[in-house]
Amino acid sequence: MTMKNIIVANWKTAYNLNQIKEISSLSEFKHISLTIIPPFPFIKEARSTLPKHIAVGAQDVSAFSHGLYTGEVTAHLLASCECDTVIIGHSERRVNFNETKIEIKKKIANCVDAKLNVIFCVGEKLDEILERYDIIQKQMEDLDEFPIDRSIIIAYEPVWAIGANRMPDMESVKEMVCFIKTKALQMELNCKVLYGGSVSSDNINSLLSINGLDGYLIGNASIQKDLFAIIRKFEETVPTTEK
Ligand code: PGA
Repeated sequence: MTMKNIIVANWKTAYNLNQIKEISSLSEFKHISLTIIPPFPFIKEARSTLPKHIAVGAQDVSAFSHGLYTGEVTAHLLASCECDTVIIGHSERRVNFNETKIEIKKKIANCVDAKLNVIFCVGEKLDEILERYDIIQKQMEDLDEFPIDRSIIIAYEPVWAIGANRMPDMESVKEMVCFIKTKALQMELNCKVLYGGSVSSDNINSLLSINGLDGYLIGNASIQKDLFAIIRKFEETVPTTEK
């Protein structure tokens, strides 16, 4: 089957309408599927400006499904803005907002209920490198109730590589992708695996050699012109891969 490379642009607290307009003017992609993830207040504007072949996502979702929770953004509210996808368990939320396993599981369940796609982030901290397989396995246990008839994206993002301009060596990314896919198979999860953490147009070539990797979750580089360089790299130089 012909598969497209998944590119997810996590814009964190940045938003650039001009960039949205420029992306809109690109012709339909042959080799990639692109999701733009702006901050909450700009989801609707991004959705109405971008063509339908570009998906729009959210960076987080409430652990509550509905009710009197001032300031919360529920999965159903996101679905009503034609948001396609939600990032859950990003390390910036796990670390800075003390996100717990219980909250993460509720967020996943709420997205499943609202028929939103989930990008579930896993990754070890610097001092956990030696136990990284145990860490990732424990994080993946949060998906034990994920419905087998739905597909999920798991993003492997070593915490120490995010926004840090450094990446693990390609052999360890390859081994981790293989580990995640094997575990997912045992859990009967229908999953694709992304790599995230300091991906840029300068280093994406090295990641292209990793068999089984389905795409990239890109932060800093996707906010700038680098996103266009990455899109160009796939559209002009990468042949459609049979995976
Ligand atoms: P980065 O961020 O590409 O800036 O390292 C990735 C992410 O936060 O998902």
